[in-house]
Amino acid sequence: MRGDLELTDDVPGGFSDSVRRAFAERPGERFTLVLSGGPTARRCYERLASDTAGARDFDWRLVDVLMGDERCVPADDPDANQRLVRESLLDQVGDVGSFQPMDCGQGAPAYEEVVGAFPALDMIHLGLGPDGHTASLFPGSDALETSDQRLVVESVDPNGRNPHRRMTLTLRGIGRARLAVFTVVGGEKADALRAVCSGGDVPAARVRAGSVRWLVDRKTLGNICS
Ligand code: 6PG
Repeated sequence: MRGDLELTDDVPGGFSDSVRRAFAERPGERFTLVLSGGPTARRCYERLASDTAGARDFDWRLVDVLMGDERCVPADDPDANQRLVRESLLDQVGDVGSFQPMDCGQGAPAYEEVVGAFPALDMIHLGLGPDGHTASLFPGSDALETSDQRLVVESVDPNGRNPHRRMTLTLRGIGRARLAVFTVVGGEKADALRAVCSGGDVPAARVRAGSVRWLVDRKTLGNICS
């Protein structure tokens, strides 16, 4: 495994701590936070919202919130990652510096300009799918090709396991982050996590960033990487 593994009984709490620590240690005035989707992300963002709302040491007005991937559905669709982020986080914390949802209608080059306008991404949150995907980088997908300089692409799951056309940061785009934090919960992720720990060739194992932290649920996955 590339990066640090941390087993925890409280993944959302560990995620919230990681964001608050990265914010406190940010090199610039503002803080760029890149978010994802899925049920684990929802729990993490709810926890971050309740830990930071009104906190003196965390100022959401200095935080620029971006998306690492999105499903190409209307913004208010129950499957939209931006809806998840709004409900679980943005609606809870008041004004943020900015929020830049991915819009498949505008296309990947438009979001690439958004991402490229930030000198660096301070932190990206990533999940791990049971098939080893992360963001919307699926096994066997063209989006994994790193032969060009693209930061953002559109993608589909060539194996048909994950619904919707997607937009996603590429490995290169993710690699612009100072810190990548994976949150992994649930026994259905065991094979994927085993592949990551043993250097297997799943998309999540290919992530590079300034540093990479794996927050793994001890109860459901505690024995996988030992
Ligand atoms: C998405 C995500 C995706 C997610 C994983 C894991 O839009 O679906 O960004 O990459 O992070 O599927 O999700 P869970 O950790 O919630 O299972």
